[in-house]
Amino acid sequence: MSDFEKNLSLYGLEINNALDKALSPNFLNSPDIAPEKLIKAMRYGSLNGGKRLRPFLLSQSAKIFNIPAKTTIDAGLAIEMIHCYSLIHDDLPCMDDDDLRRGKPSVHKKFDEATAILAGDNLLTLAFEILVKSEDYSAQLRNNLIIELAKNAGAGGMVGGQMFDLLGENKNLNKDEIANISAMKTGALILASVRMGAIIGQADEKEIFTLSKYGQLAGRAFQLADDILDETASEKQMGKATGKDAGRGKSTLISLIGLKEAKTQLDEIIEQAIIALEPFGKKANGLKEIVLFFGARKN
Ligand code: IPE
Ligand code: IPE
Ligand code: MG
Ligand code: MG
Ligand code: MG
Repeated sequence: MSDFEKNLSLYGLEINNALDKALSPNFLNSPDIAPEKLIKAMRYGSLNGGKRLRPFLLSQSAKIFNIPAKTTIDAGLAIEMIHCYSLIHDDLPCMDDDDLRRGKPSVHKKFDEATAILAGDNLLTLAFEILVKSEDYSAQLRNNLIIELAKNAGAGGMVGGQMFDLLGENKNLNKDEIANISAMKTGALILASVRMGAIIGQADEKEIFTLSKYGQLAGRAFQLADDILDETASEKQMGKATGKDAGRGKSTLISLIGLKEAKTQLDEIIEQAIIALEPFGKKANGLKEIVLFFGARKN
C-alpha cells in the first residue's frame, strides 16, 4: 500500500467513526421517536464501504492552510452524507435502477424503495444539522460552509445534474451538454469539497479561485474515470453494475469520442489540474496525489 493509500484509508476510518457516532440513536436529534428501520437504512447506506474521497479532498485542501485533519471531520461528514444520499437515490428504480452498490445490495433492495427515499432525505437534512451544530468552526465559517454545500448539492449542482442526466437518456447529447451534466451531477460535490477545505483554512479570494480551478478539473477527471470504468471494469471490481451507461442510453464522453480518446482526455485533464496547483507548491502535494489517484483508480 502506498503512503497515499494509507493516508486515505486512515482518514476514511476517522470518517467512518464519525458517521457511526452521528448515526447512533443517542446522537440523532429525536432518538425516542425516530423509526428504527429508518436509522438502520441510513447506517446501511453510509457505513457500507465508500472510499470517502470527498472528505479526504476537503481535508487535503484545508491542509494547504495548516488545518489539522480533526478540524475537517464535521465538514467531511456533512459532504459524505450528501454523497451517500445521492447514491441511494441514484440507484432507485426510477433513476439508474441499480441493485448493487459498494459490493452490496442497494438500499432499496436491502430495505424497500420508500425506505431508501426516506433514508436519503434524512442524510440530507442531517448533513446540514451537523454543520449548524459543529463546535469546530466559528459562526461565520459555519455560514459559509452551509452556503457552499447547499449551492453545490442543489438545483445548480448535484440535484440539477441528476435531472439533466435523466432528461438526457436516449438522446444524442453534444460534448458541451455531456460536460455540463458531469460538472453538475458529480463535479459540484467535488468542487464543494475542495472549496469547503479552503473556507475552513480561511483562504483569500485568489486562493479560492485557484483551488476552484483545480476542483473543477478534478471533478471532470473523476466522472470521466467513472464512465471509463463503467465501460471497462467488472462488476466485482467496482462493487456496482458496469456497462450500465450504454444499457440505459446515457450519453457519456465515451459514447461520443470512444474509449481511447476519452483516456487521452483524462490524462490531459489530470495534467491541467496539477498545473492549477502550482501556486501552492509542495503544500498541495496531497491534492496532486488525489487527482492522480482519480485517474489510476481501479474501483
Ligand atoms: C460514485 O462515487 C458516484 C459518482 C459520482 C460517479 P464514488 O466512486 O466516490 O463512490 P464511493 O463513495 O466510493 O462508493
Ligand atoms: C452519479 O453518477 C452521480 C451522482 C450524483 C450519484 P453515476 O450514476 O454514473 O454514478 P454510479 O456509476 O451509479 O456510481
Ligand atoms: Mg446516475
Ligand atoms: Mg448511477
Ligand atoms: Mg457511473
